[in-house]
Amino acid sequence: MTHVWTAIKKVPFFRGLRDTEIMQVIKIAHSRRYKKNDIIFRKEDLGNSFFIVKDGKVKIFTSLGGDKKKTFAFLNRGDFFGEMSLLGGKVRSASAMAAEDTELYVISKRNFAKLIAGNHQFTLKLLHTLADRLTRADNEIASMLFHNIRGRLAEAILELTKKSHATPTKVAIDQSELAQYLGTTRVPVCRAINIFKREGTIDYRRGEIIILNHAKLKSMAGNIQ
Ligand code: CMP
Repeated sequence: MTHVWTAIKKVPFFRGLRDTEIMQVIKIAHSRRYKKNDIIFRKEDLGNSFFIVKDGKVKIFTSLGGDKKKTFAFLNRGDFFGEMSLLGGKVRSASAMAAEDTELYVISKRNFAKLIAGNHQFTLKLLHTLADRLTRADNEIASMLFHNIRGRLAEAILELTKKSHATPTKVAIDQSELAQYLGTTRVPVCRAINIFKREGTIDYRRGEIIILNHAKLKSMAGNIQ
């Protein structure tokens, strides 16, 4: 039990929650494993569970027709998802896929409602994250309206590397994933990457973006007021 407890405490979602509150969550969750590329649920499915990433990476995305895809977020250890349909939307607002081998805590809709009613820290965490996601979505709308592809790419790189602890800062992502994250096609993304490389702002090798000039990237991303 001790090593299970130690593992649980490493999941960032549970930081700041008291032991009794963590126990409340764990008691009603079961864990489920997914292989890389497994679909967890699809947009428009009826929402019946809430998920916390125990390990791995989840991609939240939508697709239009066969080929147009937009990635909304990559979620890592400690992030949660699946709350929106349970809070009101009824059906899933986006699809979720395991971006690598992944393990999730799964909580039923009924137990999720009980947690919201009975666990204040859990509810606060939920509200904070929803506010962060809304801010990010607002920024992305502004960025799509006011920025060119280079500004948007700069912003995307900063967002994707936000949680990186490596020096220099880096993130593994291939060009088609990056294009989906920006809601565009590979060609303009490839061109923008090459410009950033020539300027010495980033390096891009073997599917990995390495930030070489953070200040330059920030000024490219700009501040939308
Ligand atoms: P739900 O609508 O139940 O299913 C899809 C989930 O994706 C949604 O709940 C949120 O948890 C998550 N989601 C949707 N949009 C975003 C976003 N922009 N950033 C992070 N997560 C999101």
